[in-house]
Formats: sequence, C-alpha cells, structure tokens
Amino acid sequence: MKIESLLIHGGIDGDEKTGAVNIPIYQTSTFKQRAFGENNGYEYSRTGNPTREALEKLVGDLEGGVGGLAFGSGMAAITAVLSLFKSGDKMLIPNNLYGGTFRVIDKVFKNFNIDYEIVDVSHIREVKKILEQESGKIKGVFIETPTNPLMDIADIKAISTLAKGYGALAIVDNTFMTPYLQKPLEFGADIVVHSATKYLGGHSDVVAGLIIVKDKELLERLHFIQNSTGGVLGPFDSFLLGKGIKTLAVRMDRHNENAAKITKFLLENENVSKVYYPGIKGNLGYEIHRKQAKGFGGVVSFVVNKNIDYKKFLSSLKVISFGESLGGVESLICHPATMTHGAIPKDIRQKVGIVDELIRLSVGIENIEDLLDDLKRAFEESRVK
Ligand SMILES: Cc1ncc(COP(=O)(O)O)c(C=O)c1O
Repeated sequence: MKIESLLIHGGIDGDEKTGAVNIPIYQTSTFKQRAFGENNGYEYSRTGNPTREALEKLVGDLEGGVGGLAFGSGMAAITAVLSLFKSGDKMLIPNNLYGGTFRVIDKVFKNFNIDYEIVDVSHIREVKKILEQESGKIKGVFIETPTNPLMDIADIKAISTLAKGYGALAIVDNTFMTPYLQKPLEFGADIVVHSATKYLGGHSDVVAGLIIVKDKELLERLHFIQNSTGGVLGPFDSFLLGKGIKTLAVRMDRHNENAAKITKFLLENENVSKVYYPGIKGNLGYEIHRKQAKGFGGVVSFVVNKNIDYKKFLSSLKVISFGESLGGVESLICHPATMTHGAIPKDIRQKVGIVDELIRLSVGIENIEDLLDDLKRAFEESRVK
C-alpha cells in the first residue's frame, strides 16, 4: 500500500468483530482473566491496551519499523529512549534542538551521570570529529532534521552510519517531517521519536509521543521501559491520534504549499533579515534534505529587523495564533527565545542564532491569502515609529 492508503488502513484496520471502520475506544484500566494464568492477550492497560496497540501498530507500519510505542507526550517518549543509557554514557546532540529535549538531557539525565556533547549537525565532519574524540563514550546520537527552530539539516544516512561505526544508537526526532515526508529508519536510523502532539495528531487536541524502531529486541527493551516507567498514552487520546493520522497526507500537502508561499513572501520582505526554511534553494543542507525527504514541511523561522517591534508584531496577528506548539491545522506563531527554547542557556541560544528577534511560524492549512494579509497587517502595525 502507498502511504496515503496506509495512513487510513495501516496497523489494525477497523474492528474485526463488529465491522466498525474505526478502532473502538477500550476505556478500561484492567481486563478480566479467563482463568488462572489465562487471559485474552491483555492484563492491565499500562502494559497493553487494544486502542493504544492499534495506534502503535499503525505508526510502526508508517515509519517502516517492527512496531511502535505510544506515550503520554513527546517528552515521555524521549525520556523512555534516554532511559536506554546508563551512568557514564554520553549523548551527542544538535546545537539547536527542541528546548524541552535539551532540558531533560541537561537537567534530568545529567544527574544520572549521562552527559552530552553538542555539535552542529549540518557539518558531518564535526559529527565525526566528536565521535572520534569521545570514542567509546558516546552511546547515542540524537538528531532532529530539520532542527527546531533553525531548520538545520542533518544527513540521516551519513550520521547513522557514523553512529553505528562508533557503537552508538542513531535516534531521529521526526516530528517536523512525519513519515509522510521522511522515514529515518530507511536511512539507517535505529530509533524514531515523535511529538505526535504536532502534525500526526494535527488538530491541537492531544498531547502524545511515539517511538518506532526497526529491531525487535530493541522494541522489547523499550516496551519494558514503557511498562516500568508508565508514561503511556490513554485509550481516548490513542483514538484521537489515530483519527488525526488518517488525514496526514492531505494536511501535509497543504502545509507544504502554504509554507512555501509564506517563505517566498518573507524572503522578499524588507522587515525580515533572515529566513530559515529547508526549501530555500542553495542553502546548506538543501540537497541533503531533498534526498531524504519528499517535502519541506510547514515550519518557517525568521528574524525581523530592528525597525519592527517583535512583541507588538506577535500580538497584532489575528488569523495566526500566538502560542506554543506547531503542526496543527491552525497557524501558530511563537517566540523561541522565551517560549519553546527558554530552557537553553542564553549564551548558547545567542551563539547559534536563537536571537530575541527570531520568530517561529507553524503555517496552518487556512487560505493562504488570509495568512499573508495577516502578516502584512501585523508588520505595518508593529513598525517602530
Ligand atoms: C521537535 C520536538 N520534539 C519533541 C517535543 C516534545 O513533545 P511534547 O510537547 O509532545 O512533549 C516537541 C514539542 O514542541 C518538539 O517540537
């Protein structure tokens, strides 16, 4: 099946017993046992729940893995992945990545003596240099491509090959692209994680996370961690996420289309000094991205000039909502330095380019004219007099 069909019919297609085209919501914490030592495949919903399992099978199919695991948030999924490592191990992470991921590595796992090195993932030679220097210590390379919020592109195949050579797991946060546009496991990654809160859910109505792997033994280890630490996704949210996933292809096509038009508008705008979008021809990483993904996604970041009061700009928008998150049908705009990336120390933020004038826009699927008019008006209203 092609991905557009797999989104709708992948995993467990409907309910075999009744013919219902949707997976029933098994809103239960526990399951009655048939007899001593005999059950119907389920015991307790932390360990396994049929609604969650249907979702987990679906996302396993979508990413081309052996299976998936669904969590109560993207951070719970990332925490489960980081729980694979032990005291003395090190992680290699990008110099710009989602602030919450940086925070859990820097403020939680570091306390357990799991340290990290930072690298510019768009330069493969830099990645190799650190892996060589830290040979034997780095056990996990965690990347986002594109990175959040500066849209740096990492070469998944080259990094996965390097990681393997140095005995490290290659982990890719595929939140921005989704399996509709990019499948990291096909390029050699070991683990894919998602904040399914974003494009996969697509309607800003559920907080969820996913892990997908291509090795059965690794899936079992991660299921053990999921069951032991308990950050599972509930049945109703599993249903909502499965429902959102069905329309991913049509939504992503429109996100791509709208974001490309907004990027063009921003590139030509006198109030904007820099635009970050993977689809800008000639940019570092453009060719690599085209090789590993079939679209550029819906997130575009940009830096406004000093003649614009960025606080006023953010508050002046009417169609585009000022708020955290991304990937919903509605356009969302945020200020990374104080919101999504506030957890990253200021000196690192400034050094890599997460400046105060940086704005991240998650382009929704509204009519493009309404979005462009909203931006034009907000620029007008926020000009410094
Ligand atoms: C790229 C990326 N990964 C992970 C997360 C964390 O996911 P959640 O908010 O679902 O815990 C986010 C949240 O914004 C994100 O943007």
